[in-house]
Amino acid sequence: MDPNKRPDDMVRITTPELAQAFIDEQVAAIREQVGDKKVLLALSGGVDSSVVAALLIKAIGKQLICVHVNHGLMRKGESEQVIDVFQNQMDANLIYVDATDRFLDLLAGVDEPEAKRHIIGEEFIKVFDEEAAKLEGISFLGQGTIYPDILESQDGVKAHHNVGGLPEEMQFELVEPVKLLFKDEVRVVGRELGLPESMVERQPFPGPGLGVRCTGAITRDRLNALREADAIVREEIDAAGLKVWQYFCVVPDYRATGVRDGKRAYEWPCIIRCVDTIDVMTATVPRLDWDLLERMTNRILAEVPGICRVCYELSPKPIATVEWE
Ligand code: XMP
Repeated sequence: MDPNKRPDDMVRITTPELAQAFIDEQVAAIREQVGDKKVLLALSGGVDSSVVAALLIKAIGKQLICVHVNHGLMRKGESEQVIDVFQNQMDANLIYVDATDRFLDLLAGVDEPEAKRHIIGEEFIKVFDEEAAKLEGISFLGQGTIYPDILESQDGVKAHHNVGGLPEEMQFELVEPVKLLFKDEVRVVGRELGLPESMVERQPFPGPGLGVRCTGAITRDRLNALREADAIVREEIDAAGLKVWQYFCVVPDYRATGVRDGKRAYEWPCIIRCVDTIDVMTATVPRLDWDLLERMTNRILAEVPGICRVCYELSPKPIATVEWE
């Protein structure tokens, strides 16, 4: 039997009972595979790595060592949530690395999108490698591979060099407990494992994070403005109870005029980007309620220093991609 092929008769995990059965089965399988050895896991706080972390914690407790690398391009509150959930609530072995300065120093002045992505991806591996080298007796690497990742890599479609995609030469055996699951099943399992709803239902977020939404050469002040504006958009859309696939902001590297406190201002625009999609190959723009758009606009203009205009993007994919870079 091909371990990377989902059996035709595998039941789709849609209920807490099915999730519990899956968890019991995987906990036993992980214990069997790992024995008394140690597992290392890059924990981004995304749905897949978080569910794998929670499963491994349940199975082997402190034999799991999670490394959370904050590349400085996380959304507001994200690293704090990882620490709170895994260290404080689940009592996991968590190494938190604040590598913000390393990443932002390397990225300073780099405006070419692919160059930015490469720098972020490579530096991530370097930081993770350095942390791994400090540890002793690691035999396994946990990974949040899910079934669409396997299908996409077989088809050769995988277009994104993801951050967290670790080099194959790492000398560890892999532990991939959710590799035969689809995303919706991973969420059901995560919920059953007690992960917070905001983590389980997290919208997709690219590995290079806010770096691809702070277009051109990233500066700390513009990145901070983007992070604050993004938090407002997430807060308002979540509060409105809307189901939107992805909703975020982009703050480009040019400015526009405005008037602030009776004086001429020359500040950044902020673009609100919302998309709905089924297959991610194409995407449409939801018709957001006007009051909601106004509320987000007014809050961003009032609360975020450095932004004097807000636009709502109407471009579908194609011709526009979801991300700006
Ligand atoms: P694009 O911009 O290609 O994005 O239309 C399609 C979807 O992929 C996400 N995206 C990424 N996801 N690593 C990821 O894991 C990445 O480097 C990356 N870049 C884009 C994007 O947010 C959208 O959901």
